[in-house]
Amino acid sequence: MNKLTKLFGIDYPIIQGGMVWVSGGKLAAAVSRAGGLGIVGAGSMQPELLQRHITKAQSLTSKPIAVNIPLLYEKAHEQIDMALSLGIKIFFTSAGSPKKFTSYLKDHAVTVVHVVSTPEQAKSSEEAGVDAVVAEGFEAGGHNGRDEITTMTLIPQVRDLIKIPLIAAGGIADGRAMLAALSLGADGVQMGTRFLMTRESSAHEDFKNLLLQATPSSTKTLMKATVPVRLFSNKFAEEILQIEQSFHGENLKQKLKDHLGKYRAQHGMLEGDLINGELEVGQVIALIKNIPSVEEVFIELIRDYQQAYKNLPLHL
Ligand SMILES: Cc1cc2nc3c(=O)[nH]c(=O)nc-3n(C[C@H](O)[C@H](O)[C@H](O)COP(=O)(O)O)c2cc1C
Repeated sequence: MNKLTKLFGIDYPIIQGGMVWVSGGKLAAAVSRAGGLGIVGAGSMQPELLQRHITKAQSLTSKPIAVNIPLLYEKAHEQIDMALSLGIKIFFTSAGSPKKFTSYLKDHAVTVVHVVSTPEQAKSSEEAGVDAVVAEGFEAGGHNGRDEITTMTLIPQVRDLIKIPLIAAGGIADGRAMLAALSLGADGVQMGTRFLMTRESSAHEDFKNLLLQATPSSTKTLMKATVPVRLFSNKFAEEILQIEQSFHGENLKQKLKDHLGKYRAQHGMLEGDLINGELEVGQVIALIKNIPSVEEVFIELIRDYQQAYKNLPLHL
């Protein structure tokens, strides 16, 4: 048991990050059943769909389930109210100011965790009254911080600045990395890409199979002029790169918005358009060469964490 497992009422300090189009009720329930904290990613969902996913997760497990609410979407407030009405007790907010909803959520006596990408944001989240912080390095899949701070340098800086529990994210996919993150001062880890590559995730099978071929240079953070996001290199990502090299300022922002259009991420990650779709994934994908069940991921993670601890090459 540690601070984080106590805060959430879980067995292992292992959290499955909320992921648009990827983390529905089935994945969240499988992670919570395995002893971690499963999160339904509300980002891509209208409140009615979110209701279906939360209800599904609750029907599959009686263990705690959390919901991730990215604050950049207009429907965030409605999503929060829907989740509250279904008895959700743990909220992970991201992509926005922690001041926006923390006191509203705390008035409903729930646990609030905010996702940050700089030490300063971690401090202001603590000041806003959150219960814990996820500090996410630039290696991570999904939206990234503009400052390009990696997990290795971010975690110790955040640890030195805040007192509340700290969750490390970005580039963590196995027991060795989990041990490293805890050594840097984290109380637990949040993983996205590893859980995307499981049987229970709702990523399209063709997307998962494509990712098995990933190399260390398969991902890039693009769209820094609008909302930075780490993408798998495909035709769509190449086109974005071309636009970034050809335009500047307001013109660039507009071109990026126009080219992204609507539903790119849905077409790519959920429906399997591997050419023109937006494919979000973390840099650590280069290390992942299988698509196991969530239960198998947990067995391996815990075994490898213990092994890595024993195998440390230097005990001073
Ligand atoms: C496909 C995908 C979608 C994501 N969507 C979200 C999201 O909706 N909200 C959020 O807070 N983080 C999102 N993330 C970030 C994850 O929650 C997690 O913090 C991140 O993946 C951790 O880094 P890793 O991919 O190296 O494990 C997403 C990540 C991926 C790979």
